[in-house]
Amino acid sequence: MNNQSPTDTMEKVVSLAKRRGFVFPGSEIYGGLKGTWDFGPLGVALNNNIKREWWKMFVDSREDMYGLDAAILMNATVWEASGHTGAGFADPMVEDTKTGERFRADHLLKDGGIDAEGMTLEEIDATIIERNIKSPSGNPLSPARQFNLMFETMIGATAGPGGQVYLRPETAQGIFVNFKNVVDTMAPKLPFGIAQIGKAFRNEIAPREWLFRVREFEQMEIEYFVKESDWEAQFELLRQAIVRWHAHLGLSDANIREYEVPGNDLAHYSKRTIDFEYNFPGKGFDELAGFAYRTDHDLKSHMAASGKSMEYIESDGTRFVPHVLEPSFGVGRAFTAVLCEAYTEDEMNGEVRTYLKLPNHLAPYRVAVSPLLKNKPRLVEKAREVFSLLKAEFGNVAWDDNGNVGKRYRRQDEIGTPYCIVVDFDTLGEEAPEHRDTVTVRHRDTGTQERIAITELAAYIR
Ligand code: GAP
Repeated sequence: MNNQSPTDTMEKVVSLAKRRGFVFPGSEIYGGLKGTWDFGPLGVALNNNIKREWWKMFVDSREDMYGLDAAILMNATVWEASGHTGAGFADPMVEDTKTGERFRADHLLKDGGIDAEGMTLEEIDATIIERNIKSPSGNPLSPARQFNLMFETMIGATAGPGGQVYLRPETAQGIFVNFKNVVDTMAPKLPFGIAQIGKAFRNEIAPREWLFRVREFEQMEIEYFVKESDWEAQFELLRQAIVRWHAHLGLSDANIREYEVPGNDLAHYSKRTIDFEYNFPGKGFDELAGFAYRTDHDLKSHMAASGKSMEYIESDGTRFVPHVLEPSFGVGRAFTAVLCEAYTEDEMNGEVRTYLKLPNHLAPYRVAVSPLLKNKPRLVEKAREVFSLLKAEFGNVAWDDNGNVGKRYRRQDEIGTPYCIVVDFDTLGEEAPEHRDTVTVRHRDTGTQERIAITELAAYIR
């Protein structure tokens, strides 16, 4: 049944996400706000499940990881020390002089077959004039200027440069500035990591492709501190952990690729970076998560700028600044990949059906419970009992008594609920006493049904 084009698949995923309460355009009733999206009831459930599973895998199940939740607003000096206020975190931007639309100058040059890597703004301007490069609407372009991607704001009532702060463009720096605090309070042994999940903001010139490039998003990041001599061994272990994480999200091997960033494209402080790419329908392979060896660059920069030691002291008194490995994941990109991978169309009972083949641990609802008929009080009462039992056990249990059973199955399939439970007359022991206190459990992927004792339900669907 999956013979639609990949672009169709992406459009169908976006449409299902809107229709079924996963993702809405931000500020929709006011015409929206570009680069922002709101997660609806099912979207927040899926997002939370992704984040919970990540935390379980990378923090709770390990002895070498420590959690952190740093403030979004940080002293502005942090971003000077990290290099984010400079050209390293800016893109060259030009404007269509008629429509005011903004474009990445390097992208426009690239479309014209010119590599703008390393060009100064003056060189970009000269090339635009020389090659007569216009905006996509055919209009003249403004001179290029560096556009920094950080959102600026003012703190408190202070006006002027002293009060300026930024919305963090990555969670990572909150980890570096707390390195000493974690070492002093937790006495971790190297190698160890500090993990954080939180919002990040980037004033992208051209937000695009649904949740792929947005201005407000969430990251799940780890800074993993190692001895320099140990970086290669630890890099391989973490790389394998990232591979396991993507499998845990249900992403197939065929849709994941590791892109080894070539030496000349690496940041000056990075000795190795791998981009984990996902094969997004209609877009092809693009970055899902990044994994970089950043040497001791970050801690040394903060040590120089703050004047505070970032050294780690071994039990024998040896002092040194640890090196760092950084796995960095975007929650929205993981969310998109999970939905694209799960989106399935097949034929059941002669009808086309759409369902989300989500792993059980990610599905917004683990199970839906319904009475066969909603106008039979004894069925409803018994179904409510089963619902309450499972609700206490799992939390994410849906009550669904709308329409007939077939319609309920389709509705739950479309949002990825792995099991539907129906309480019928057999459950009450009215038609077949041997089935008393058993229910029908229907499986999402196959449509097959089984009778299971109520007392065994929780263990069965766990
Ligand atoms: N601390 C390293 C860092 O932030 P990055 O490659 O800029 O590295 C890491 O970002 C991840 O954050 C990306 O792999 C992507 O998943 C996500 N990400 C970055 N910018 C994003 C944006 N504008 N919209 C959505 N996700 C984004």
